[in-house]
Amino acid sequence: MKRRPLVLANWKMNMTPSQVLPYLDQVIPEVEKDTGADVAIAAQDLYLAQMVKATTNTRLAIAAENAHWTDEGAYTGETSPKALAEIGVSYVLIGHFERRKLFNETDERVNLKTKAALKNGLKVIVDLDEDMSTYDTVNPNNVVLAQLRAALAGISAEELDQVAIAYEPTWAIGSGEAASATAAQKAAVLIRQSLKNLYSAGVAEKIRILYGGSVTTKNAAAFLSQNDIDGVLVGKAALDPKQFLELIDIAQ
Ligand code: G3H
Repeated sequence: MKRRPLVLANWKMNMTPSQVLPYLDQVIPEVEKDTGADVAIAAQDLYLAQMVKATTNTRLAIAAENAHWTDEGAYTGETSPKALAEIGVSYVLIGHFERRKLFNETDERVNLKTKAALKNGLKVIVDLDEDMSTYDTVNPNNVVLAQLRAALAGISAEELDQVAIAYEPTWAIGSGEAASATAAQKAAVLIRQSLKNLYSAGVAEKIRILYGGSVTTKNAAAFLSQNDIDGVLVGKAALDPKQFLELIDIAQ
């Protein structure tokens, strides 16, 4: 089954306010010409409303980099998924490695956040982040698959329609050293097999699995040509609009 690719830029805590609109102005006309891939940009919360406005009625979707697990309450400094949905944000990235490592995000929180985002009509990219050496077909303690099971606990097959999975080997993130395309494909196969066991073959076939970790214009084609890799999650390379556009082209 051919799944529509998703090219997701994650700006992380980069880009200044004055860079946001010029970047979008450069990217939108090109994205509008393309029809073969879904395209989204995840950015800091304070840029999101402006970005949604600038991309209204375009093919470029806007994503949050995180969201809280409740709609409202006394959670100083947090962002409500309900508020994100109300301003027109389309996607939210949940469980990114940097959230897990630097902000102590647990599997349980990833699960709660995923559920809250879905309840509010947001599409979710669930990030699974671990070292590649931890996966093989027999090890029941495989960290990536444990993260997957935990993140999706209590989420129905129907809800899973709005979920994509991103696989990022920790050492590849921001290091300039990407996984090999075959190793990433192997991880994607294991993730898909696990989804088949948790849900069904049909559900597992439909879900998009992205690779992330030092994706560049040079290596993206190799990842995207793998049978089970349906997109890329791009940090550093996507900070340059020209490279981001090239990555989108590659994904068509
Ligand atoms: O969210 C993006 C990933 O963490 C990958 O970042 O492309 O800078 O390695 P990177």
